[in-house]
Amino acid sequence: MNRFKDKVIMLTGAAACNPKKQMGFAGETVWRYFREGGSAAIITDVQDILGEESIIELSKSGYNSFYSHLDVTKEEEWEEVISVGLRKFGKIDYLVNIAGILDPKPISEIDTEDWQNVINVSLRGVFLGTKIVSKFMGKNGGGSIVNISSMGALNGSGTYGSAYGASRSALLHFTKSTALHYADKGIRANAILPGWTRTPFTEYLYNDKVQRDYRSNKVPLGRWGRPSDIASAILFMLSDDASYITGSSLLVDGGVMAGELSRPTNPLSDTD
Ligand SMILES: NC(=O)c1ccc[n+]([C@@H]2O[C@H](COP(=O)([O-])OP(=O)(O)OC[C@H]3O[C@@H](n4cnc5c(N)ncnc54)[C@H](O)[C@@H]3O)[C@@H](O)[C@H]2O)c1
Repeated sequence: MNRFKDKVIMLTGAAACNPKKQMGFAGETVWRYFREGGSAAIITDVQDILGEESIIELSKSGYNSFYSHLDVTKEEEWEEVISVGLRKFGKIDYLVNIAGILDPKPISEIDTEDWQNVINVSLRGVFLGTKIVSKFMGKNGGGSIVNISSMGALNGSGTYGSAYGASRSALLHFTKSTALHYADKGIRANAILPGWTRTPFTEYLYNDKVQRDYRSNKVPLGRWGRPSDIASAILFMLSDDASYITGSSLLVDGGVMAGELSRPTNPLSDTD
């Protein structure tokens, strides 16, 4: 399959693309994107060593990419990365906004600054990226933006803290506004809402057997998500397979948000 022939992709929060280490959504997305004909990738994050290691592995396989430090909350860093990316690759067709943090402290305990940080990485980061990258996508006849939200956007949570869910929920709204605003430039924007998926982001939960099993038991399909489950949805939304989809959001959660299971323990669960 050559779905991504001649396309250039940019990802935020994407350091974990080294297959010798645990990969995140970005890693599964980027490797499959290249295997399906992708031309070049701009990989960004704040974890620079991990990001550089990922580029070494990609280049060993002959894939054209570069890593750049990008704190998504900093406008000047966005401007810099985009200008380097355009100099190197001439265009950007796809933007995948993955960067995210959470702070689990409850409302009564979280500092205002920590609360704001979570909101900034989610929301300010996606706003800046959308505004800056869309200028160039528009000139090139269009593109596709995928924002990683969370199934946590749809419910309150006692585990992830109030800022996380609120910012992920706001992202769904922002995605719709992006879709409307840029439709006439040929730019589509969609959101993915992952469920519990084993990545560096959730390793602390997965490694805690009680937390892991509690979640596995709530998933109708009986297991945690794999990064490849989320990458499939990201790549679909980026590609022309989704050419009539914009302003939409796709849950990839093994059925968790469909409702409660009838048994306290799910017989399908891969609890080991
Ligand atoms: N893994 C899950 O179960 C799950 C479920 C729902 C949503 N998500 C969302 O997916 C994203 C995490 O992706 P992942 O699970 O592949 O984990 P990941 O840890 O590989 O990716 C998150 C990345 O965001 C980066 N980051 C943090 N602050 C940043 C900043 N200011 N600027 C740029 N990058 C920054 C981190 O360094 C990290 O590499 C988050 O946005 C999270 O809300 C994850």
